[in-house]
Amino acid sequence: MDTQEKIINILKNQDKVKIKVSDHGLILKLSSKKIINYKQITENIYSLTTDGYDIIQNGSPEYNYMKGDLKIEKSVGFNNAMKKGWIKLENGLVKKIVADIKDELKENLLKIKNCEGFDMKIVSNDILKELLRRKLIEKKKVIYYEISKGENFLKEDKNLETDILCEMIGKSFNLKDYNWNTLGILPLNGALHPLNKIKDEFRNIFLEMGFEEMNTRKYVESSFWNFDSLFQPQNHPSREAHDTFFIKNPKYSTFPEEYGKKVKKIHEDGDFGSLGYGYGWSEEEASKNILRTHTTAISAQYLYNLKKLEIKLFSIDRVFRNEHVDATHLAEFHQVEGLIAGKNLNLKHLLGILSQFFKKLGIEKLKFKPAYNPYTEPSVEVFAFHPKLKKYIEIGNSGIFRPEMIKPMGLDCSVIAWGLSLERPAMIKYGIKNIRQLFGHGVDFDYIRKNNICYF
Ligand code: PHE
Repeated sequence: MDTQEKIINILKNQDKVKIKVSDHGLILKLSSKKIINYKQITENIYSLTTDGYDIIQNGSPEYNYMKGDLKIEKSVGFNNAMKKGWIKLENGLVKKIVADIKDELKENLLKIKNCEGFDMKIVSNDILKELLRRKLIEKKKVIYYEISKGENFLKEDKNLETDILCEMIGKSFNLKDYNWNTLGILPLNGALHPLNKIKDEFRNIFLEMGFEEMNTRKYVESSFWNFDSLFQPQNHPSREAHDTFFIKNPKYSTFPEEYGKKVKKIHEDGDFGSLGYGYGWSEEEASKNILRTHTTAISAQYLYNLKKLEIKLFSIDRVFRNEHVDATHLAEFHQVEGLIAGKNLNLKHLLGILSQFFKKLGIEKLKFKPAYNPYTEPSVEVFAFHPKLKKYIEIGNSGIFRPEMIKPMGLDCSVIAWGLSLERPAMIKYGIKNIRQLFGHGVDFDYIRKNNICYF
């Protein structure tokens, strides 16, 4: 007998029935044909855990203990038998108090199993509590239906129509009720990646604040622009192969000759009041091609080519680091970079602009911490309060570009700048713990499709 026949047979003899049906579509179909009326009910039931089933098979530990030779021992059976008052200790020996012992625990579990968890009045509340505490049963949600006869119950199937055709107009037809509760099939449309949504939001804030976007469409850079122009010495650990991806072919690229000389001088002997690092600067080392490790390599080129002394620039693009990949690190990620060049800009301006920027994102609780970068002085790390984690987490790095970086470019102004991660706020926003879920080949398309709009 199929489910439909079963339901109809039951309703022939009684007005109402409460049953569990796995096929929700069948209930909808019968109700749209008015064969039945139904009400959906969600209830908590209790079902046995594997430990619960184990007791049904093998008996409870306390019962099994009572069948043995009643020693004092460290066991669940002994402890429970004591608690239940089945035994007591007398002169260091176990004395049986209750003569006739039944395995109540097993019996109660059997009762629950036999009524399939539906009628919990079958055991007392205290017993339920004990069974839950001992993890022998667990609470589960079940959906079932209260079904009664509809107006077409036991009437001939009336050939209900679903679509209205031209020929039907003017005649009478039995139309099926429209089911307003049914969901349509979701169209397989494209969807914006969460990182793109956040990128757009960051971009809009920059544009709103009067920033211009830098062209960052270039992943391969010379070490010169990525490190040397930023006054990062050639023996700096981040310039080694285990931190940076070096390009084999083409291995080298050129950089402006005259400016290169100035960079060499500032590294070797210093200039503009700076002492330099005092080492032999290698042109070959500076010419080596790499995958850019930060977008500050692009900022440096923009500053070098600067036509006016006041400018606000930003970029959001990909950078590469030869990192060990784990839940929070990838070898490629995105950086949000901003800079302002102008006269007499100082730390107050930097902290002010950062606060304003994050305020527009809806992040108001910020903390600043002194830090170190070869190309900024002072350098400031930015921390934001994460309301879910209830602590401050690092969201960026910033500073005022050093004279050693901007003076050889011929700039006579000050530049405040900052760099943030794009993935980090995205992970916070979308509650993602593993970065590989957000970016890279491991991303699930369904996840992208179902994501909500951004707005921090
Ligand atoms: N380039 C830095 C980084 O990769 C960020 C930064 C940019 C810091 C500009 C200061 C100024 O973390």
